[in-house]
Amino acid sequence: MCGIVGYVGHRKALDVVLGGLRRMEYRGYDSAGVAVLDGAGSLTVERKAGRLANLESALEESGRDAFAGTAGMGHTRWATHGAPVDRNSHPHRDASERVAVVHNGIIENFAALRAELESDGVELTSDTDTETTAHLIARAYAEGDTLEDLAASVRAVCRRLEGAFTLVVTHADQPDLIVAARRSSPLVVGVGEGETFVASDVAAFIEHTCEAVELGQDQLVVIDRDGYHVTDFDGEPAQGKPFTVDWDLSAAEKGGHEYFMLKEIEEQPDALANTLRGHFESGRIVLDEQRMSDQDLRDVDKVFVVACGSAYHSGLVAKYAIEHWCRLPVEVELASEFRYRDPVLDRDTLVVAVSQSGETADTLEAVRHARAQKARVLAVCNTNGAQIPRESDAVLYTHAGPEIGVASTKAFLAQIAANYLVGLALAQARGTKYPDEVAREFGELEAMPAAVHKVLSTVDQVRDLGRRMADSKAVLFLGRHVGFPVALEGALKLKELAYMHAEGFAAGELKHGPIALIEDGLPVVVVMPSPKGRAMLHAKLVSNISEIQARGARTIVIAEEGDDTVRPFADELVEVPAVPTLLQPLVSTVPLQVLAAEIARTRGYDVDKPRNLAKSVTVE
Ligand code: F6R
Repeated sequence: MCGIVGYVGHRKALDVVLGGLRRMEYRGYDSAGVAVLDGAGSLTVERKAGRLANLESALEESGRDAFAGTAGMGHTRWATHGAPVDRNSHPHRDASERVAVVHNGIIENFAALRAELESDGVELTSDTDTETTAHLIARAYAEGDTLEDLAASVRAVCRRLEGAFTLVVTHADQPDLIVAARRSSPLVVGVGEGETFVASDVAAFIEHTCEAVELGQDQLVVIDRDGYHVTDFDGEPAQGKPFTVDWDLSAAEKGGHEYFMLKEIEEQPDALANTLRGHFESGRIVLDEQRMSDQDLRDVDKVFVVACGSAYHSGLVAKYAIEHWCRLPVEVELASEFRYRDPVLDRDTLVVAVSQSGETADTLEAVRHARAQKARVLAVCNTNGAQIPRESDAVLYTHAGPEIGVASTKAFLAQIAANYLVGLALAQARGTKYPDEVAREFGELEAMPAAVHKVLSTVDQVRDLGRRMADSKAVLFLGRHVGFPVALEGALKLKELAYMHAEGFAAGELKHGPIALIEDGLPVVVVMPSPKGRAMLHAKLVSNISEIQARGARTIVIAEEGDDTVRPFADELVEVPAVPTLLQPLVSTVPLQVLAAEIARTRGYDVDKPRNLAKSVTVE
């Protein structure tokens, strides 16, 4: 939530910063702002409520001449404290307007800091937690021994802050450097030739450099044209972790697609193939990082999957696979509930934390809670070096590439695939599957990118259906077995993209209540299991469909190719290729993503930036 970028180099900072914000707008789009240092002692700020486009228009109107400097920073906001209006937009400045700050996260003790400032006669002009830091830094700087040391002032203030934050700070007196600091919020440095960047996400500077440095917890970095210097909050020298970004600008651009989400749906075969690649070596499933022993894996006697939203749905799929393959009990928990209900955890519990961003606050806190109870934590994550993998005992990275559309698509499919790999790794460690069985399951997974590719080649029918469904008031989704989490995911996609009431149910629950919702013409999407792989469940779902059809529902059936039994019960039939039962979510989710996107487009909504949402939810 909130995207921040800072730049010191030889180009016009405004252009670099706006380019970075454009690629980070998925992190929040309630307001945007920039600050540029001109090198002659002036700091110029522009900020505007609403999308980045509003800021760009304001800059056009006021003229960009005041923004000619080569050091600057920017912010795109997802509002937490204070309404999304101009005065709450970042950057925030102190009273002298010499210091500017942009911030991602929440400063939990801001009320006390604000009261302290007010009692000292400081007038705050916004409702944000961030503004307090600008005043505190300005004060520390003015009181400092060496007037030069902005970094020391920022460090002193960071030591007083509680909560999660990334701060980027400029001072008009120091036009050739930028200071940034982080605690539990992302911050990466980009290292170019004669230019250096800081940002929430490498996407902000990928156009200029692939060389990045990940900062650790409670670290501060000073950047200038020549590079960067890292310390901890006490000023002791510290090391960042250098890495090279393995995707390029084209991955962070729309590439001719109307929306990122449509591109990302199409990228799913690659996302799956890349996630599987390198995770089966010399006949064994391998994780990316393992700071726990093989014996620890063997000793696991219970698994919890904790996650939020779509990632949680990927965990629900994992439950079917892990229980079946490993004979281990698996509980899937919403991360926001997990730590508040005193779950029974010990050192033989494996908590699998699934998170695309690796910075979701609820999932991170669930990880911390689990580790405090001595449970082991394995992170499934799409973001190299994010906080959740850093705090975990083992990591399996999904390699979906950057996901810019706020609604998860390729990251979700990659999470499902990675969760299967976790299941196979456990089965291999515990010996519940022989090596040749693990190899066979992996081989089946390897066939999935081609199966998803095949689904993608037939989605025109779904688009047409989406256009015809755009006026619906509500849509229900039904599934059984692994089709149940797919139904939940289909409903979530429709809610978040098309703002349409949508609910997913386990089809067996219909007669326990939801069937009362069925009325004439109500669209009901049914995710069918394979008639061969799951004949009994298939028969039960066919009777569920006939029950709802008899009550007037319009049935939209996602079924395996050649499933003739279900045909008479389907008002609309969408066929997906036959794949092994446990892997079916990888193909049956895709039409539901396309359906939601098409309904949203037809209703005139921005598919990439649904209202009220942001890509990574770093507040609880
Ligand atoms: C829905 C969606 C969200 C995320 C959820 C978890 O399309 O994208 O529900 O899945 O916010 O995010 P991560 O995986 O980053 O922890």
